[in-house]
Amino acid sequence: MSGNRPIGIIGGSGLQRLPDFKITREERADTPYGPPSAPLMHGEFAGRPVVFLARHGAGHTLLPHLINYRANIYAMKSADVDSIIAVAAVGGITVEMRPERIVIPDQIVDYTHGRGHTFFEGEDTPVTHVDFTHPYDEHLRQQLTDAAAAAGIDVVPHGVYGATQGPRLESAAEIDRMERDGCDIVGMTGMPEAGLARELGIPYACCAVVANRAAGRGAATITPQIIEAHLNAGMTQVVALLRAALSPNAR
Ligand code: HPA
Repeated sequence: MSGNRPIGIIGGSGLQRLPDFKITREERADTPYGPPSAPLMHGEFAGRPVVFLARHGAGHTLLPHLINYRANIYAMKSADVDSIIAVAAVGGITVEMRPERIVIPDQIVDYTHGRGHTFFEGEDTPVTHVDFTHPYDEHLRQQLTDAAAAAGIDVVPHGVYGATQGPRLESAAEIDRMERDGCDIVGMTGMPEAGLARELGIPYACCAVVANRAAGRGAATITPQIIEAHLNAGMTQVVALLRAALSPNAR
């Protein structure tokens, strides 16, 4: 995060709009992949230019497997964002990942399928393999964890994000398998979003909010009420973290 280029923020479930965001322009973007999930909201947040995009649509109507991730990331690139902070609701798999905690993951395991997951697919496109060893931008992750420490906000500064296809939640056995695979948290939107940002060279990091203990790890049944209650509390902390990370004295 540097200079005067805008920061892209992609808001997930529980963050369809950004509180105290001074919107100056609403852009109905179009891309070679179609329109993004919602209009791009240009404006100022915590004294910084920001472009905000509601991942699930302004009315929270787009399911994770139906989101046009390519259009979203392409539109962010066209808006010349300096970097993207992606906010996402997740389930907590490992004990440390308890509800309402914010996690800044450092790794990904991708279990999604059938989503438009690459920009490299035209017949004349040279064979390209982007490096994804460290899927999240380390510098941006550090800025988020430093800002959290300075503002006294509790975050888990690491974790493996397992991206599932959804829209159903997982079975207990699937979560057991994910834990054996090394996953700490589970969500449905982390991929292909992170991979596409990497393909376009946009530094990308995630602020995940644990909305529930994952299947077989807590409540016998995961209800929308459980998810919503924790998300509301967690998102208040995420907004505080975004404010701390973006405010000029954090740079
Ligand atoms: N699994 C997948 N995605 C989620 C969950 C979950 O338990 N909670 C919030 N998003």
